Amino acid sequence: MTNITLRVLDKYDLPLLPGEATPIPGQKDLSYYEYVSTDPNSSRWNETAKNLLCVLHCLEGVPKGISLEEPFGGVGVFTVVLRGELKPVTHRLFEIDPQCYKQLTTITRGKKGMQVKKRDANKRMGRKYSDVFVIDFPFFTLVKWHKKGIWKEGFQRVFKQKPKRILVTDGASALYQTHWFKTGGYAKSIGITTEITKERESYVKAMSELYWKEQGYSITRCGYHGSCFYYALEPKEPSEIDFKFFPSGSGKGLIKIASNTEEI
Ligand SMILES: C[S@@+](CC[C@H](N)C(=O)[O-])C[C@H]1O[C@@H](n2cnc3c(N)ncnc32)[C@H](O)[C@@H]1O
Repeated sequence: MTNITLRVLDKYDLPLLPGEATPIPGQKDLSYYEYVSTDPNSSRWNETAKNLLCVLHCLEGVPKGISLEEPFGGVGVFTVVLRGELKPVTHRLFEIDPQCYKQLTTITRGKKGMQVKKRDANKRMGRKYSDVFVIDFPFFTLVKWHKKGIWKEGFQRVFKQKPKRILVTDGASALYQTHWFKTGGYAKSIGITTEITKERESYVKAMSELYWKEQGYSITRCGYHGSCFYYALEPKEPSEIDFKFFPSGSGKGLIKIASNTEEI
């Protein structure tokens, strides 16, 4: 059996238990093992590193020692970086996939303030207060959440806790060129005045208007690339959003193998 340790952002070590991407019950998606361990040479590592750059952009200004919840723990790539960067006093994780859960319990064993639960995030997230929520939704867009009601129950509880910052992964950047028009039509139908155009940032501005109207939060920072928007919501009136675009290749080499050992 091979155990790999990944070096993430040249700073953080992530030991990976052997695992395979398996379908999540009731979903089309595969667990996060799809992204990290199925192929050690996978370009997915570069994509994951690019995601982390977006997350770090959204976290700017968050002080150390906060309480943190990550409802979609995956294999813990975000977890090791968030622990290193924010030194949270409490850090709560949920994950539904058995292999990911095992991986998360292994890497967090003995770490102070950490709690990992094998639970459905939609049922568990936001039941307790945390200063910061990092919500790496496996799938989330305006239409999926607001029109179709996906994750609505859990996400609503998070707002009710009135956290200082909420980071959201929004997949609307993928297929943007074919979907912006329909998305814009839906936004208009629910009274959003910010026009969604071909230009990606307009979507984030429209979302900010919606969050402000319905939740009293607006988007303050956004890191994005061709597949996802990562944005930070804060309980503030909408103003300029600090955007940062990460082009393809910007995550290259930022996740690599630190060690690879054969177990007997
Ligand atoms: C985008 S990945 C998160 C990756 C994570 N940020 C990391 O660094 O490894 C989303 C994860 O959510 C998990 N998931 C999907 N549906 C879930 C649910 N209802 N409750 C909890 N976890 C879920 C999937 O197994 C997947 O590992």
